[in-house]
Amino acid sequence: MFITFEGIDLSGKSTQAKLLYQHLKKSGKKAILVREPGGTQISEKIRDILLDKKHSKMFSLTEFLLFSASRQQLTEEVIKPHLKKGYFVICDRYYDSSTAYQGYGGQVDMKTILTVNKIATNGLKPDITFFIDIDMKESAARRKSMGKTKDRMEQKKIKYFNQVIGGYRSLSKQYCWRVKLIDGKKNIDEIQNDILNILKKKSKHV
Ligand code: ADP
Ligand code: TYD
Repeated sequence: MFITFEGIDLSGKSTQAKLLYQHLKKSGKKAILVREPGGTQISEKIRDILLDKKHSKMFSLTEFLLFSASRQQLTEEVIKPHLKKGYFVICDRYYDSSTAYQGYGGQVDMKTILTVNKIATNGLKPDITFFIDIDMKESAARRKSMGKTKDRMEQKKIKYFNQVIGGYRSLSKQYCWRVKLIDGKKNIDEIQNDILNILKKKSKHV
């Protein structure tokens, strides 16, 4: 089963992806946890280019193609081989991030986004996607309490992120059978329960 997590920065994706991974491992399942952009030696190098604050002039289309290149490498090198061997593959971000950020946020033509998303993954779709929904106020409050500095992507304007959030909400409606909207303001345990309940309905192995 291929499970992805989506949402804006600090929405709680990594926390929930890790909890799910630990839950599966504890119950004796084969599982791996990867993140985007990154997850392979080549993809981590692309990640460094993407998040480097010195690259302030990067065009949205350049950004999109780099995220897609990183994804292609991760998909072929790690995700597909593990799915073939019967693993649960949990991915912290996948192509919905490109649709939300570079498409809805960066205004790259949506037809281009959907076409390249398909090419970069050879059509591999997640079985289920958890979109953890928080607003920018909550994200900013968490950033402040963590004292976390901003990378290049996180330095974009508030309008951009509101478009990203709107994009994710729209995806959860357009692909409601796959993209599950989770209220990110609930506490960590409640969210994990919501996620496990949805997954249990989909697979008896969870
Ligand atoms: P992301 O991977 O989406 O950037 P993280 O999982 O790293 O987010 O979480 C960002 C911060 O928010 C961490 O300090 C984490 O402990 C905290 N956090 C995660 N989930 C919740 C939640 N449901 N409520 C409050 N804080 C949370
Ligand atoms: P990361 O530190 O992994 O953020 P997070 O912990 O929130 O996942 O940085 C990844 C950044 O790249 C994040 O700001 C979202 C952005 N991104 C895109 O804009 N498009 C994409 O396709 C992907 C995968 C990520």
